[in-house]
Amino acid sequence: MATNCDDMIPTMSEVEFRLLSNIIHDVAGINLTPNKKPLLVSRLARRLRELGVNFSEYYRIILEDKEEFIRLIDRVSTNKTEFLREPTHFEFLGTRFVGEMRKKIAEAGKRSIRIWSAACSTGEEPYSIALTLLEALGGDTSWMIRILASDICTEALKTAESAIYDEEGIARLPAQLWGKYLLKGVGEYKGKYRFKEFVRRMVEFRRINLKDGKLPVREEFDAIFLRNVLIYFDRPTQDEVVEKLSRHIRDGGYLFLGHSESLQTRPGGFKMIIPSVYIKMASNKGVH
Ligand SMILES: C[S@@+](CC[C@H](N)C(=O)[O-])C[C@H]1O[C@@H](n2cnc3c(N)ncnc32)[C@H](O)[C@@H]1O
Repeated sequence: MATNCDDMIPTMSEVEFRLLSNIIHDVAGINLTPNKKPLLVSRLARRLRELGVNFSEYYRIILEDKEEFIRLIDRVSTNKTEFLREPTHFEFLGTRFVGEMRKKIAEAGKRSIRIWSAACSTGEEPYSIALTLLEALGGDTSWMIRILASDICTEALKTAESAIYDEEGIARLPAQLWGKYLLKGVGEYKGKYRFKEFVRRMVEFRRINLKDGKLPVREEFDAIFLRNVLIYFDRPTQDEVVEKLSRHIRDGGYLFLGHSESLQTRPGGFKMIIPSVYIKMASNKGVH
C-alpha cells in the first residue's frame, strides 16, 4: 500500500503540548489554550518531519538551539494583515492626527512625526501609515516622517523589508496611489509591485519581542499602532505590554488597537477617543 509521509500527522501528548505552549507563552507572550493543540501540531508537523524527530526531541532541540527557537516562534505567529486594514484608523490618522501635528509645529516649530507599528507583520501596516501621512501632508517634503516597524516574526519581517507585494494585496490601495508610490515589476517580478525608495526609507524594520522585559527602544512616539496582537496574549501579558508601550507615547499621543481589542483597565493613563483609538493623558494635567 502506498503511503505519503507528508500526510502523516505526528502525535503530541498533553505533556508535550504543555511544555511547548508554556515556553512559547513565557518567551513570546502567545497564549495557546488547550483547544489550540491541533493548530500547534499542524504548524510544526512539517518541521518535525524535516528534522526527523518527535515532539519531545524537538522540545529538547529548541531549548538548546536559539535559531530553532526563533523558527518555532515564526511558525506559531499568525501574520494575517492587509493594506489599510480597519480603514477608520487611517481616516483618523490622515485628518485629526495630521491636523494636530500641523498645530504642534506652530507651537514647537518641529516638523517631525514618529510612529511605531509594533506588530507590523509583513509590512502592510507601516506602509499604509506612510502613504496616509504622505497624502495628508500633500507632498510637503519639509516633514521628517519616521516609522519604526517591528515584529517578533523574522519571516514576516523579511517580506516587509523587501517591500514587494503582489497585485491582489496592492489592490486594497486606491489605484491613483499605485503609480505615485509603487514600481511595477517586470520579468521575473511581473505581477509584483515594490514601494519606491523614498517610501522604503521612511520605515525602519527591527525584530522586537514585545514580551521582553526591557524594550530596545529609547524614543517617544506621536502614535503607536499595536493592532491585532493583544488578542494572542493573556490578560496579564496584555496589561504588561500596554504599560510598557505607554512609556513610549508622548502626552497627547495615540495608541491604536485592533477593532476587536480594547483597554479595559487602561494602564498607562489612556482615554478612548473613538473605538480602539486612545489618547495618552498628560500624567498630571488630567484633561484633554
Ligand atoms: C495578526 S498580525 C497583526 C498585523 C498588523 N498589526 C495588523 O493589524 O494587520 C499579529 C502580529 O503580531 C506578531 N507578534 C506576536 N507576538 C509578538 C510579540 N511577542 N512581539 C512582537 N510581535 C508579536 C506576530 O508575529 C504577527 O505578525
